[in-house]
Amino acid sequence: MAEEDYRWNRHEAAAAYDAAAPLIHPRYQEVQAAVVAALPFGREASIRVLDLGGGSGRLAELILKSCPNAHLTVLDQSEPFLALAKDRLAPFGNRAATVERRLQNDWLGDVGVVDAVVSTSAIHHLLPGEKQTLFMQCFAALKAGGLFINGDEYRPASTEQFKALLQQWSRHMEAALESGAIPSSFEPVLGQWKRRNMQEFDSPRKSGDDCLETVDAQIGRLRDAGFCAVEAVWQKDLWGVVVARRLEITG
Ligand SMILES: C[S@@+](CC[C@H](N)C(=O)[O-])C[C@H]1O[C@@H](n2cnc3c(N)ncnc32)[C@H](O)[C@@H]1O
Repeated sequence: MAEEDYRWNRHEAAAAYDAAAPLIHPRYQEVQAAVVAALPFGREASIRVLDLGGGSGRLAELILKSCPNAHLTVLDQSEPFLALAKDRLAPFGNRAATVERRLQNDWLGDVGVVDAVVSTSAIHHLLPGEKQTLFMQCFAALKAGGLFINGDEYRPASTEQFKALLQQWSRHMEAALESGAIPSSFEPVLGQWKRRNMQEFDSPRKSGDDCLETVDAQIGRLRDAGFCAVEAVWQKDLWGVVVARRLEITG
């Protein structure tokens, strides 16, 4: 898919998502709070954090406010999302940076080694093999003792339950659009979401679609990438927060 055709690269889609994220995604704030709570470093720690697919910088802002000595890089492939992130994070000066890059690219050289890699609502856009390669790169990017924390969409194992949760989320977004809580510019994004995820439920997924996997599948993938102590620390409906640690080197 040409990058300009990707839905997250349209200015209207980025602006609408940024304006209404907590209404579009019913667990948005709970997921972000769980990601921040999983950072084990203490408020005053001088840590380096990477936010993968960090979009308009909402999670980055929360982390930079919660950890006043942290430095954070938002990595995303979308110029319109990163323009919003730059505005939002400008008050943090050189504590915040942005990198325009795809998760599938080699980004380690641009970002360097970090204490934590975080992400929300982004990694589920990758195909299984792309996720595996990304998790290996995350492992390489982390210092010993560092953490990977993914607050993302996950599917239940049961197809019936998955379809019911998709219906529930669709009704939630439709009601928020009808009431005007979500800007009408989000309507085409929702229309395409319903086509891909509900009408074409059985069609094969391509990179950039919503390629949800179960929490257990992702835990297995992270272990395969070298992480230990991998667990889901929070889970509700279609959302979860998975935490994985890169082992400390001892002896
Ligand atoms: C639903 S938005 C979430 C944004 C932000 N993480 C948040 O929680 O508010 C999805 C984001 O993932 C980014 N994204 C999707 N696929 C990507 C990829 N392959 N590489 C880099 N970023 C990607 C999009 O550009 C977009 O900013």
